[in-house]
Amino acid sequence: MSGKTPMSSAASRKTELWVDRVTELSEHEMAELCEATDAAIIEGGGFGWVEPQGRAALERHFRGAMLVPERELFVARLDGLVVGSAQLVRPPRNNEAQAFSASLTHAYIAPYGRGHGLARLMIRRVEERAAALGHRVLNLDVRETQEIAIGVFEGLGYIRWGTHPAYARVRGQTVAGHFYYKLLEPGRGRSTGQVMGLEVG
Ligand SMILES: CC(C)(COP(=O)(O)OP(=O)(O)OC[C@H]1O[C@@H](n2cnc3c(N)ncnc32)[C@H](O)[C@@H]1OP(=O)(O)O)[C@@H](O)C(=O)NCCC(=O)NCCS
Repeated sequence: MSGKTPMSSAASRKTELWVDRVTELSEHEMAELCEATDAAIIEGGGFGWVEPQGRAALERHFRGAMLVPERELFVARLDGLVVGSAQLVRPPRNNEAQAFSASLTHAYIAPYGRGHGLARLMIRRVEERAAALGHRVLNLDVRETQEIAIGVFEGLGYIRWGTHPAYARVRGQTVAGHFYYKLLEPGRGRSTGQVMGLEVG
């Protein structure tokens, strides 16, 4: 866990919210993460999986995510318990033309960790990290049925630039998906609008 100070939830002054970028997890933390992930999948989203995967498959996925150079894993904790995660995906080294951008994917909070502001905090941490790594744009996409997530992303300033009508298949139904981007500011030097040659309103 990083040394960052936890944030107090608005819901309860005693509730502590943490989001950390992790490169390793203890057995105990991995178990909590896998449980949170399956709980989110069962409830209906946040991952490409539609059916719960169980500990072994999820553990392989997360251990892989921590090993792949282009991926960074963030975990969200509520009073110390891992209740969600998100991944920052950077372009591969051969994609010089899109080196300025990165993607936020697989973001979810388990039902038992929701409503405390953790998703908002987690997304902001991913944005801060992406900006610190020099990325100027963060991309993401989401099923149109994830209405709460859409509200969270739009509330954080993500701009919808398109909708894919055949984005996903969930239990035999085709589901559309929305595509978003957000310009990131590095906090020093030239603004993203200047660098990218964009008008920023
Ligand atoms: C979307 C999700 C990540 C939100 O997690 P969360 O930790 O409960 O969200 P937060 O507590 O940070 O809330 C963020 C905002 O969403 C709003 N919100 C949260 N739950 C809500 C609900 N059930 N109904 C309406 N608004 C809701 C909050 O009010 C807050 O807005 P505010 O600050 O203006 O009040 C969570 O519901 C989830 O995992 N959903 C399924 C997976 C998913 O859709 N992932 C994203 C696609 S990749």
